[in-house]
Amino acid sequence: LREALAAHHGVAPEQVFCGNGSNEVLQCLLSAYGGPRRKALVFEPTYALHSHIARLTGTTVVDAERDAAHAVDLAEAARVIEQEHPDLVFLCSPNNPTGNADPLGTVAALLERSPGLLVVDEAYGQFAPSSAIELLSQSPDLVVVRTFSKTWSMAALRLGYFLAHPEVVEACERVALPYHLDALKQAAGLIALRYEAEMNDRVRRLVEQRGRVEAALGALEVEVWPSDANFICFRPRTHSAAEVWTGLLERSVLVRNISGFPRLAGCLRVTIGTVEENDRFLEALREVLDAPTAA
Ligand SMILES: Cc1ncc(COP(=O)(O)O)c(C=O)c1O
Repeated sequence: LREALAAHHGVAPEQVFCGNGSNEVLQCLLSAYGGPRRKALVFEPTYALHSHIARLTGTTVVDAERDAAHAVDLAEAARVIEQEHPDLVFLCSPNNPTGNADPLGTVAALLERSPGLLVVDEAYGQFAPSSAIELLSQSPDLVVVRTFSKTWSMAALRLGYFLAHPEVVEACERVALPYHLDALKQAAGLIALRYEAEMNDRVRRLVEQRGRVEAALGALEVEVWPSDANFICFRPRTHSAAEVWTGLLERSVLVRNISGFPRLAGCLRVTIGTVEENDRFLEALREVLDAPTAA
């Protein structure tokens, strides 16, 4: 599987580390490079498991603000890096749950400033216009995390991996349990890679639909953030997130209420589906927003 993934991404097999889902891969990175008296920096709001797994491994979590567009603010990042000297910096790009990808210039700037590892979580990487994989040869401190859970639609298989310098792979092999990746999972991963064209086709269709849903949301009473992932973050202007979430649920449409995330008060996240599912979501949302608010 390592060799197949290396060929898939154009890197050496020694640069690939596989795990039981990218969460386990993140856990291995934090076991190897985090721990007591070490620090991990995250850019909030972001994927909650980065800080959660960091804390589980005894790593101190520090955070930096994103700007109003949810992009990493490089001046703020430099300030926090200078002050905290984090051993690991986590960048989720495209970011879950806001959807935006940070440009490669941001990744390069963070690499230059970070004293330790820069972990770029690209769980939704195939939906974005560029990938930090392009920068791998420039630095031994860059780690790019990928998963079979999203674009490959294989979340239940629990298969994820990272690409990095061989030294980072070796460090993670030292903390992983022996034979932690079973043979059946590896066989399934190998089979999946044969269907890359189908996967790319699915991504193309979802990106097309994302554009349509984004445009339709733009005509409604909601604030919308442009997305590079397969979901869109939006904030209803006239109703609370809870009201809209419940109204959608009553119409059999389930979105994620992300208003509890730091800095995302009042926000919801909708995942892009089929044409029919997206139509149903938009129709239900129009109805809910047209109804008088309870507040
Ligand atoms: C940004 C991000 N990274 C990693 C994961 C973990 O995925 P898995 O452990 O299934 O590979 C998720 C899942 O939601 C995610 O959103």
